[in-house]
Amino acid sequence: MRKIGVLTSGGDSPGMNAAIRAVVRKAIFHNVEVYGIYYGYQGLISGDIRKLEIGSVGDIIHRGGTMLHSARCLDFKTEEGQLKGIEQLKKHGIEGLVVIGGDGSYRGAGALTKRGYPCIGVPGTIDNDIPGTDFTIGFDTALNTVIDAIDRIRDTATSHERTYVVEVMGRDAGDLALWAGLAGGAETILCPECDYNMEELIAKLIRGKERGKKHSIIIVAEGVGSAVDIAREIEAETHFDTRVTVLGHVQRGGSPSANDRVLASRLGAHAVELLIEGKGGRAVGLEKNQLVDYDIIEVLSHKHAIDRKMYDLSSELSI
Ligand code: F6P
Repeated sequence: MRKIGVLTSGGDSPGMNAAIRAVVRKAIFHNVEVYGIYYGYQGLISGDIRKLEIGSVGDIIHRGGTMLHSARCLDFKTEEGQLKGIEQLKKHGIEGLVVIGGDGSYRGAGALTKRGYPCIGVPGTIDNDIPGTDFTIGFDTALNTVIDAIDRIRDTATSHERTYVVEVMGRDAGDLALWAGLAGGAETILCPECDYNMEELIAKLIRGKERGKKHSIIIVAEGVGSAVDIAREIEAETHFDTRVTVLGHVQRGGSPSANDRVLASRLGAHAVELLIEGKGGRAVGLEKNQLVDYDIIEVLSHKHAIDRKMYDLSSELSI
């Protein structure tokens, strides 16, 4: 393999730049040329493709976002879009592609794989919802951003003796809510994967107040529904002074944590190793701190599961 391409797609995540850097430097180390495809699959279709050198990825390891930019591209879901993309790759002599992104990006890579084009998926999303890896790039940073926010909310919640409902991202997954709730000492965590009972939630809040608790924090994964609706219901039932914070895209930005930089560097480099070995159609990951790779189509057929024991533990610790 003499020339490879790299793109980032879907929602950006902190650490994507570190992954791009690893792909570029690892490839050049092995005398393979690298082409950056800008704006994800949109740029692949339109041919926004530029050669990257060692210096192109200098001074980015610590930066959030993605230097290649990103896009959500509906056209790439069509046969026409995919064929145009492959045509562009062939036109530039690019023999393999590294796709950094979440499940939508993986579906694009899966489509290219089915058309016989060698692709490697690198999991980059704050949602931590990609099967075949313990962690996705960006999750750790987003988690720390959420924790920082919860700690601040806790201060003001205590001062005013308020109940706070904090909505976090995660699309259909509850990992960010669960980890943030456990690390932030939340009273209750609502995840899309776990049923909850509003009466129990309210009874717990009242019990807490009765034993002298000065505040309560409830973490709601966006996949459960609106934090505003949940807060309204709590306030109506308890008459506690209740506030809502929707953290939103704040969770997607910022300098990547050391863990995300290391994860991104290892996964990006591993993706290049696979392409050099002539392997395509793989999704890389880290399991029990070991690099792994799986058939990307197979990975797409699995559903990421939440750690149920961790969820139960969070309830036990917040009695
Ligand atoms: O997948 C990452 C993510 O931030 C989700 O947590 C969220 O639901 C979604 O992207 C938001 O997408 P957009 O940035 O397109 O509004």
